[in-house]
Amino acid sequence: MTVRLVQVSDLHVGAHDAGFEEVAAAVRALVAELAPELVLATGDLSHRNRPGQHARATAFLRSLEAPVLALPGNHDLPALPPARVARPFAAFLREWPGVEPAHVSERLAVCALCSVRPWRYQRGALSAAQLERAAAVLGSAPAGALRVVALHHHLLGAPWRTGKRSVPARSRVLAALAAAGAELVVSGHTHQSVVVERREFLFPRGGEPGLVVATAPGLGRPRPGRHAEAAGLQLYEADTDSLRAVTYAWTGARLEPVAERRYPRSDTSARP
Ligand SMILES: [Fe+2]
Ligand SMILES: [Fe+2]
Repeated sequence: MTVRLVQVSDLHVGAHDAGFEEVAAAVRALVAELAPELVLATGDLSHRNRPGQHARATAFLRSLEAPVLALPGNHDLPALPPARVARPFAAFLREWPGVEPAHVSERLAVCALCSVRPWRYQRGALSAAQLERAAAVLGSAPAGALRVVALHHHLLGAPWRTGKRSVPARSRVLAALAAAGAELVVSGHTHQSVVVERREFLFPRGGEPGLVVATAPGLGRPRPGRHAEAAGLQLYEADTDSLRAVTYAWTGARLEPVAERRYPRSDTSARP
């Protein structure tokens, strides 16, 4: 049985919104066509953390014909202390029930981890306790369910120049997520799409299919002059034998699939 997950990231509502309604309509149509089990929104939903920006981002996400799991990005923090430290997620939490939601069904388990830190704005971080939580959530999923971890900050280098360094202790984090049973780890933040398979993070109990790591393009374009930051989204589709990752890019008129990778998926029942 096929399970579909759509990832949108980095909406940056409030920055260069001209034309976003057209993109939003195309996303609505695509989601209606794909009928994913879940839409995952991996942070930077607002550009400046204003309540009105959050409300508009939420209205768009709620307008999609699918359940939505949202987590915050660094732009969803207050600009300055003391609010950034005392109430970092107050605006986000007016719209969403928590910063680390989870979704577990027969076919899909998604554990969101909040990588946003008030003092590590661009780089973020994950704690040992968060990695343990991922193992607990993924471990609770039925055999054969696609196991996914989602966070805002990236774990892969961007293909084009960026000053954004990946989450600290990236190798340790990826190894821990692989050991936790994750098959797919998805992020945003760089606004540049990357999907790779890290063969060195093969499932530790031996063998295929390894851990697929992906960064979604931004759906918003807060810096429209940057040629490497095409607006788009990602689709993940899994059945018993394969996991497919499809990148869609906004051409200015429609969302088009521009890349597709397919990975073997087998013996997932042996995962923890
Ligand atoms: Fe962003
Ligand atoms: Fe970000």
